[in-house]
Amino acid sequence: MRIQSCVPRLWQLVLLFVASLMLLLVIPIANADSDDLPTPVAGLSYGFYKKSCPKAENNVKRIMKPFLKSNVSQAAGVIRLFFHDCFVQGCDGSILINDTLGEQPSIPNQTLRASALNVIEQIKANLESICPNTVSCADVLALAAREAIRQAGGLRFEIPTGRRDSLNFSNSTIVLQNLPGPSFDLSQLVSSFSSKGLSIADMITLSGAHTVGIAHCNSFSKRLRPTVDPRFNQKFANSLIQSCPNSSINVAIDMDILTPNKFDNKYFRDLLNGKVLFNSDASLLNDSQTQAIVENYADDNDVFRSNFTISFIKMSMIQVLTGNQGNIRKVCSVLNSKSSSTATAIDSYIPAEFDTPLSYASM
Ligand code: HEM
Repeated sequence: MRIQSCVPRLWQLVLLFVASLMLLLVIPIANADSDDLPTPVAGLSYGFYKKSCPKAENNVKRIMKPFLKSNVSQAAGVIRLFFHDCFVQGCDGSILINDTLGEQPSIPNQTLRASALNVIEQIKANLESICPNTVSCADVLALAAREAIRQAGGLRFEIPTGRRDSLNFSNSTIVLQNLPGPSFDLSQLVSSFSSKGLSIADMITLSGAHTVGIAHCNSFSKRLRPTVDPRFNQKFANSLIQSCPNSSINVAIDMDILTPNKFDNKYFRDLLNGKVLFNSDASLLNDSQTQAIVENYADDNDVFRSNFTISFIKMSMIQVLTGNQGNIRKVCSVLNSKSSSTATAIDSYIPAEFDTPLSYASM
């Protein structure tokens, strides 16, 4: 009898190597192809800091990793912070300014997470120490939001940089005029996004960010009382009525009940099942064309994630300051013109409790 050797022959090894190579080529890697990404607006470019601060993007990632690893739901706070920055006088870091007359005290911004503001300040302090006066707060926020999406399960993608920071900020009234509200209907949503240069499809796609994070009862309680919005799944509405005994800001509910901490297409499944929280979410089914986009995303996570990448990059370029416009802030929460009197802002930064809304932490 011939005894077979267990040692693989050379041709078997070669075959195995070629097979693994082919498999690598065939398996889709969760990356957005850089050829398909939007062309940056004038003044922005992919890899803007490659020469001036080569470690910038990597350091953002290095600081965001442990922040998100301890609690991946923190990703939601950073993503929303970026949206609220971009929709009010552009992606210029104006939301980061801590001023009683600024954007932060306005009602929608009162539920931004203090932990998100803290991590941006922490990244900025790190980048100032390695490349002083180089990386803007607006870019730190854009890069951190990109990292948050990626680490919560979205695609890996490049985002253009080169944004400059604002020399000013808006007030509560202007914030309310620019941010869409949870009670908005479809036509209000369409006009809000189109005023920022974003299409109906972008609006639906970006609403998919509600696949992560939480909402406080007061932002959807009108859909529960005095009568239940018939677009709700009845059982889901009953559970919300129990969880939200009044329109309290103290209770928060996961926005995607299927996979609350994963950046995926399940929000669109929730939407089709009558299990989304806001009137604005439910309105995406009010028209056959918008409904078709929702159905497509609910069916296909890959299409959703790659379209989200593209719409997100478009949003990240709204009314950006570039070149000689604006400046590079030293501390994100303070305008440079005022920073000498608050030079200890970074040193005295007290990390807030994770998940603590801004309203509880600092106001
Ligand atoms: C379509 C119009 C939109 C409306 C009306 C809206 C409204 C809201 C409201 C009311 C909340 C809950 C606030 C709270 O009670 O704590 C929320 C949460 C959130 N929104 Fe939106 N939003 C919209 C679009 C977007 C976009 C475009 C993004 C990002 C690309 C986004 C990302 C988020 C995230 C991640 C959260 C969870 C935040 C957290 O858990 O801290 N939203 N949104």
